[in-house]
Amino acid sequence: MNTAPPVHTLSAWKNLQALSEQNRPHLRELLKDKNRTQALKWSAMGLELDLSCQRIDEPVLTALVELAQESALQDQIERLFQGQKVNTSEQRAALHPALRNLEANKVAWNKEITQAVNFELDRFCAFAQKIRHQELKGYTGEHFTDVVNLGIGGSDLGPRMCVQALANTSDSSQAHGPLQAPRVHFVSNVDAWALYKVVRDLDPSRTLFIVQSKTFLTQETLLLAESAKEWLLGHACPPDKVNLHFVAVTANAQLALESGYQESQIFKFWDWVGGRYSVWSAIGLPLAIAIGEEKFREFLSGAQEMDDHFQRTPWDHNLPILLGLIGIWNNNFLKATTHNVAPYSYLLSHFTPYLQQLEMESNGKGVDHGTNPMQVNTSPIVWGGLGIDGQHAYFQLLHQGSHLVSVDFIGLKKDSCPLSHAQEHHECLVLNMKAQAKALAQGRSLEDTQSELVQSGLSGQDIALLAGHRTFRGNSPSSSIWLDEMTPKILGALMAMYEHKVFVQAAIWSINPFDQWGVELGKKIAQQLKND
Ligand code: F6P
Repeated sequence: MNTAPPVHTLSAWKNLQALSEQNRPHLRELLKDKNRTQALKWSAMGLELDLSCQRIDEPVLTALVELAQESALQDQIERLFQGQKVNTSEQRAALHPALRNLEANKVAWNKEITQAVNFELDRFCAFAQKIRHQELKGYTGEHFTDVVNLGIGGSDLGPRMCVQALANTSDSSQAHGPLQAPRVHFVSNVDAWALYKVVRDLDPSRTLFIVQSKTFLTQETLLLAESAKEWLLGHACPPDKVNLHFVAVTANAQLALESGYQESQIFKFWDWVGGRYSVWSAIGLPLAIAIGEEKFREFLSGAQEMDDHFQRTPWDHNLPILLGLIGIWNNNFLKATTHNVAPYSYLLSHFTPYLQQLEMESNGKGVDHGTNPMQVNTSPIVWGGLGIDGQHAYFQLLHQGSHLVSVDFIGLKKDSCPLSHAQEHHECLVLNMKAQAKALAQGRSLEDTQSELVQSGLSGQDIALLAGHRTFRGNSPSSSIWLDEMTPKILGALMAMYEHKVFVQAAIWSINPFDQWGVELGKKIAQQLKND
């Protein structure tokens, strides 16, 4: 049991409180320091974290690192990577790092776990390769051209995001002749339209469904699977061949077996893998099908390197720790209680919803490990979407609205879209991302606005009115996270960085990031209403 004192009683917390109440320099002033960007930039594993547009200086950064040191973080990191029961309310480990740390002689936890992980990884990768190489056939003897993922929450968001990000980076299918990797689709919503709009364009005889559910009890997913089965039967699939078209991925393999899935098409993971941390397990099967085994393993290795970085790098250079601490500074001290995530890469279209679950389901908690009510804010409200589209939608509020919102900008340094002119498109994205970070940080003072209006030839009265509307307060904090390029390895590192960021914050707040009791009540009431 974690018995850390409440975070707001720690001396570093009080120090940060005092620092935040001081009259601190505006980002406009801080950014005049030419060395600032260099001093507040850290790189590792193809990622660069630029904190120059955060409202921090040396004393704040030092106090934040002291907060981490005074908290239970070090102890929690050790417990996580030893496979101890860090998920206190469910009395189990949270061993998602075991899914990407595959060398049994190197791990601190039970080696049997690593053996089981490798066994299942080999199985589902071999299955993915068979699908890619057209070796498995449906009810008419044709190979599969389309794969449909049925699952929700962690059984959807991670794989969906990764497939969108990486499917185009796959070239390994060409190594085996002119084969096309199957298209991968995702249906999470139980609304029949969601399934219908995907399957209506597919050939049933060439469609494979992957039913993903840790519990194998989720009503929405089971209903989608039932309707998918009916769709196949309604298209002349003989009843005894339906299960050729179904794969189950679950921590409840017995139930999948009892439900009629073929044993060879059931891939399992374990209760110590949280849904939102499960893409590294067989839940990643759609991704393995989309990009192939080799690249899937590269994806795991990127996350594994981030695990090493997190455990071994000094905290003032440690990407997840810095990101976690900045989040605490913004949320708890600057009172930016909503956090916007704005990727500037179409490949990261599904990144914000993925992160929403990771952050809000993990750290949206109101009591600490000892069930004492929290005295400080926990997870901010995470929201957003593609930045370039957001600029023409919600960014107005970021610049001039009444809320202080912190932002994570995420962009690619290099892009390899094959479209001619793609470089120009990429440049446009990069320039806009940089411009937004700068505009949010610097804003535009009343004096600057007025002198601009004078130059445009306006009269005194008009200037007085317009200047008020055209002034930007600035001082809105943002981080810029740059990926060298989109590769499986770098995406793996990015995701593991965010996983550990969430863990860092939970350790400092002394809350359990690995349970999600808050989603149970609604499920129960829905079931009761059904039974009434
Ligand atoms: O309702 C939330 C949740 O419990 C998530 O934590 C989980 O990722 C999702 O449902 C799906 O659960 P399952 O994989 O068991 O179907």
